[in-house]
Amino acid sequence: MHIPPLAPGEFTSSVAVITGGWSLERDRSLLSGRTVNDALTSMGVKTILVDLDGRPEALLAALDGAQAAFLAIAGRGAEDGRVQGMLETLGVSYTGSGVLASAVGMNKHAAKTVVSAAGVRVPRGVRGEATADAEREAARIAGLLGMPVMVKPVGEGGSIGLQLARTTAELASLLASPDVELMAEAFHTGRSVSVGVLETGPDTFHVLPPLEAETPNGLYSYAAKRGTAECAYHCPARVRPETMRELKEQAVVAHRALRCHSYSRHDVIVTDAAEVIWLEVNTLPGLSRSGNLALMAYEDGISYEQLLTHILRGSLTNRRAQS
Ligand SMILES: Nc1ncnc2c1ncn2[C@@H]1O[C@H](COP(=O)(O)OP(=O)(O)O)[C@@H](O)[C@H]1O
Ligand SMILES: [Mg+2]
Repeated sequence: MHIPPLAPGEFTSSVAVITGGWSLERDRSLLSGRTVNDALTSMGVKTILVDLDGRPEALLAALDGAQAAFLAIAGRGAEDGRVQGMLETLGVSYTGSGVLASAVGMNKHAAKTVVSAAGVRVPRGVRGEATADAEREAARIAGLLGMPVMVKPVGEGGSIGLQLARTTAELASLLASPDVELMAEAFHTGRSVSVGVLETGPDTFHVLPPLEAETPNGLYSYAAKRGTAECAYHCPARVRPETMRELKEQAVVAHRALRCHSYSRHDVIVTDAAEVIWLEVNTLPGLSRSGNLALMAYEDGISYEQLLTHILRGSLTNRRAQS
């Protein structure tokens, strides 16, 4: 895929790099923000780095007269459509997906429903219903899905709060007084693979070489993502050519079904029987230089600066024409 460098007149006004925020992924957002800001500056783009969790006046000042907002931020309050809605109301262009795709994408249960309706295989799952009787709820879920199950917050990312429940008793203890909405999913053993999709035109796509994260227990956990647990990366993922084709096709189907825009990263499991099972979309994946998307792009001969150029150009779109 060819991504021409930014032309001198392409981004003449400032670009507000929005980072930080108040989600549990704040630290990773700040890392993305700093890295994106430094790279854009070195590419000759005038930037203002602004923390979404800072003073509202600072945010409004950064957006005033900005040609675009570059979203280098993840998690609740930012990846879920709230920032996108604010920017649209203010008439500021921004990178990545729009309000609807962001909101649906951040809710893992809703996203699976949409993607499954487009014919992509997803794990069977249920949302945990708020109840005083966690044992009964655990028995209900075990009856529907069997054990073990993966338990995860419906609206978090970064493997935050992700737990494997092996027994109904373990499941009941996880469901007792949760502080966030939880869902349970059938557990699939296999390879954890991430697939990056770049939109190259109206309904044309380029899929980056899928990246496999190999961990001793097979889970791409919070610790593995932060480099504090063993994790080996393989790019491209170690799967057969026909599975590779399927991975790429399904990621595009999911991107389109969710009405993502410009770019997205999809997390899937490739089971031992080579079934591709879609788990979730990241509409604002981490953008550090060693992040998954940058690694996949690099493997494909796309530099970090070219990746940011693609993402920044994605802001030049007419949002009002989209859902
Ligand atoms: N149903 C499942 N079966 C097996 N492993 C899973 C399942 N769901 C999640 N995982 C593991 O946990 C990781 C994180 O889950 P994911 O759904 O991508 O949430 P997050 O938004 O926290 O990244 C996955 O990459 C995979 O390794
Ligand atoms: Mg994930």
